[in-house]
Amino acid sequence: MARTSAGPRSSWWRSPATRALAGLATVAATAAVLVTAPGAAAAASTLGAAAAQSGRYFGTASAAGRLGDSAYTTIAAREFNMVTPENEMKPDATEPNQNQFNFSSGDQIYNWAVSHGAKVRGHTLAWHAQQPGWMQNMGGSNLRNAMINHIQKVMAHYQGKLAYWDVVNEAFNEDGSRRSSNLQSTGNDWIEVAFKTARAADSSTKLCYNDYNIDNWNYGKTQGVYNMVRDFKSRGVPIDCVGLQAHFTGGSSVPSNLQTTISSFAALGVDVALTEVDVTNSSTSQYAALTQACMNVARCVGITVWGVRDSDSWRSNESPLLFDGNGNKKAAYNSVLNVLNSGGGTPTTTPTTPTNPTTTPTTTTTTPGGGSCTASLSAGQSWNDRYNLNVSVSGSSSWTVTMTVPSPARISATWNINATWPSSQVLIATPNGNGNNWGVTIMHNGNRNWPSVSCSAS
Ligand code: G3I
Repeated sequence: MARTSAGPRSSWWRSPATRALAGLATVAATAAVLVTAPGAAAAASTLGAAAAQSGRYFGTASAAGRLGDSAYTTIAAREFNMVTPENEMKPDATEPNQNQFNFSSGDQIYNWAVSHGAKVRGHTLAWHAQQPGWMQNMGGSNLRNAMINHIQKVMAHYQGKLAYWDVVNEAFNEDGSRRSSNLQSTGNDWIEVAFKTARAADSSTKLCYNDYNIDNWNYGKTQGVYNMVRDFKSRGVPIDCVGLQAHFTGGSSVPSNLQTTISSFAALGVDVALTEVDVTNSSTSQYAALTQACMNVARCVGITVWGVRDSDSWRSNESPLLFDGNGNKKAAYNSVLNVLNSGGGTPTTTPTTPTNPTTTPTTTTTTPGGGSCTASLSAGQSWNDRYNLNVSVSGSSSWTVTMTVPSPARISATWNINATWPSSQVLIATPNGNGNNWGVTIMHNGNRNWPSVSCSAS
């Protein structure tokens, strides 16, 4: 798999001293001194290594049926450090008969990936499509229970092994309403039940909602998904990530506001990833733009293309991937690699921290029973209208933090807590089982003063 450091075998730049030494001592050529330009990181030569320089991954969908093709596996092993099974962990593959599980193809992909140094994104646990026949005709409590059982059993099999799981896939209509399906007919709460079941089954993996056509910030479906994630965060429903499939094929193209979409989801306190990328005829400008949009948002954790070579694509007639059918790198490959090598992680909007007081508030409260806790605030990402604050509580795992924001500021989102709201300026936060680090998004409405906080332990 892709190396995480460039480790060049030859250097494109050598100091005059090095060149002189090389000229004088050709016998030492096999132990040549490698020098890179001062302050310049050597460019990485594979997608995975280039992405790893900024802490991101670059992945591919992979099909078990291709793993015997050495031309395919050579590229996959060299270039990618994340693998998504294209079909092998879907419900029809993993539970072909009710309560009889088959992990042979999924395990094949998993074992291949980890033995080549890659991590794995699980895809997918609950979806209206690719259900096994027995599930397709189910409804009501039978289906609800079957979904819960499926999530529990499949996640138990991969417990502790997967970096991410697409818990729910494609549950929204284009206008932002819920897609009708047998799962939806079991009750509007089916998605949150799926996420709660998933967290209980494996707390080590990040739980994602994944969908297509949620790349354009001004689109109804994007807003529908955003509102669901915001609602989940405010109520403590466990969700860690959102996957924008980013299929720019079949007539769609990269929207100019993609970065706004990514940063807006990230501001809710979730990881964001582009999970199934392909682009009609591999437009170099669109591939560069989508890569740059991810690189510009610190919490955009990685990009996955939906296949290795054009001939492996579900839309092979649009030649949408980074390698041609013969395994040659396409122009789009170089445009992506260049953007990955140019660095990233710095949001393009300049973070503006709350202004007064200038020191970061830390509040310790000792309760009459003797317990005490400390809540420390630190500024997170910020935008024109809002900013994030990260809160870390120490001293007790059974705490209550009261946060009061100065009017007219309002808290618009929270993550990793159970929240109650005595008023729109006051938040009472208690643990929701996800540890002691949590956060809030504050619409400052012109007042960027720090909120006051108090912490009590019980
Ligand atoms: O394996 C059988 C084979 O035995 C049979 O002869 C053949 C005949 O049709 O079908 C083969 O299965 C196909 C399977 O891909 C494996 O190639 C299915 O028909 C076909 O429907 C299936 O398509 C997959 C599609 O999801 C199904 O919804 C694509 O490979 C896969 O790339 C695609 O992936 C989805 C993501 O999961 C979610 N987002 C959209 C994305 C693209 O549609």
